[in-house]
Amino acid sequence: MPMAEPRRTPAAAPRGRPPGKTSRLDPARVAALETLKVVRVDQGYANLVLPAVISHFSLETRDAAFTTELVSGTLRLRGTYDAIVGACSDRPVSKIEGKVLDALRLGVHQLLSMRVPPHAAISTTVDLVSAKGGSGAGKFANAVLRKVSQNDLATWIELIVPVETTPPLRYAEIAYSHPGWIISELKQALGDEELYDLLAADNERPKVTLVARPGRSTREELPGEPTAYSPYGVVLEAGAPSSVPAVAQGRAGVQDEGSQLVATALAAAEVKGADRAWVDLCAGPGGKSALLAGLADQRGASLVAIEAQHHRSRLVRRSLKGASGVTGVLTADGTAPPLRPSSVDRVLVDAPCTGLGALRRRPEARWRRRPDDLLTLVLLQRRLLSAALDLVRPGGVVLYATCSPVLAETSEVVHSVLQHRKDVVLENAEDLLPMVPNCAGKLPGTVQLWPHRHGTDAMFMALIRKT
Ligand SMILES: C[S@@+](CC[C@H](N)C(=O)[O-])C[C@H]1O[C@@H](n2cnc3c(N)ncnc32)[C@H](O)[C@@H]1O
Repeated sequence: MPMAEPRRTPAAAPRGRPPGKTSRLDPARVAALETLKVVRVDQGYANLVLPAVISHFSLETRDAAFTTELVSGTLRLRGTYDAIVGACSDRPVSKIEGKVLDALRLGVHQLLSMRVPPHAAISTTVDLVSAKGGSGAGKFANAVLRKVSQNDLATWIELIVPVETTPPLRYAEIAYSHPGWIISELKQALGDEELYDLLAADNERPKVTLVARPGRSTREELPGEPTAYSPYGVVLEAGAPSSVPAVAQGRAGVQDEGSQLVATALAAAEVKGADRAWVDLCAGPGGKSALLAGLADQRGASLVAIEAQHHRSRLVRRSLKGASGVTGVLTADGTAPPLRPSSVDRVLVDAPCTGLGALRRRPEARWRRRPDDLLTLVLLQRRLLSAALDLVRPGGVVLYATCSPVLAETSEVVHSVLQHRKDVVLENAEDLLPMVPNCAGKLPGTVQLWPHRHGTDAMFMALIRKT
């Protein structure tokens, strides 16, 4: 059975200071620990907390990148690291105080997945733990991390879950750092053969992808290599997206290639007759709306963006600022949209979902989501899709999309809604993306993208036409 490749972070040069009473805490590591605390205690999202913490600690580019890698890598590989801490500790991981465990995880990440010299990884972590939890906690951290440093990541995994004797699910949980229930869901959607490739891809640092918003910028003016499939994307070579003028001016944005393909697919569907009214039914924070508005405008159509939450519809307005091709942004419930039934030509339902297809970008999500979330989400997804089908006129289309490959919220939602209606047909969404190979979903006609195959988030798409 294959094993996760230990990730190496090339940028991390030797850091830290030798241990000793005079050593001061490293701001980049303190920032990482603070971020982990907000994620753990306040249920914060690392990608939202990090910029604020980095700014609070006034970290320069290199230190900011170090903090970001520390936080994201530690959160992604938490399952593996906790098993290693457990093997090196005289007490169960569940009995280790939260802030000490956070610091230990950061230390383990530096020791096993970054090029930080062991003495620096250990001493800086012990300094952190001593400062936050006292000298007893510092001694405990020192003892644990010294043991951790005796093996590399692959050796630890082989020691804790020997591949020949460990049940496959348990092996995957520890070696690939995913909760068991998520592995089971992914396996149902993907099958056995590529499962470990997917789990490994979820643990990779994702590339930053930019989108050129049609009519407002071109991808030629964006720095980076063109994306493989989306005609609007580039993979940012280096630097912060906000330093790209078109991004700073809102003419371009940061958007995963899979999300770009969702908007592209809706626009590519053939619609006979009038094609003027487009709706994005679940628009917040507005990434797909901004691309759709540009595409709509090029065809003389116009977009209404609907979002249930006030603060998220504000984000949609911000994302559409300066865009043509927008009729309005409504804060409203998409299950009962304030628009005339059968009045719309194209609708996107980018449904709220578990997000289990975007684990690379949301490093804490795998630990926060619960199997119970699925039931609530599936009920909402069905209602949103039904409302979209009511909204669209005969001959018009609905694209149902999720950033999750989980069957319950993808194929099964589509199947169950279609079962109860006689006025709609499922069409072949693969035809909308002829440039994307090997993207058939489990339900024939649907599309499923995968991080390990396409380098995108695991977006699902189904195209449904009102007859
Ligand atoms: C997957 S996100 C959409 C992402 C968005 N399309 C983009 O590309 O930026 C789902 C959105 O649906 C919103 N939502 C949840 N329930 C809703 C409802 N009943 N009506 C409308 N929007 C809803 C959530 O607040 C969330 O912003």
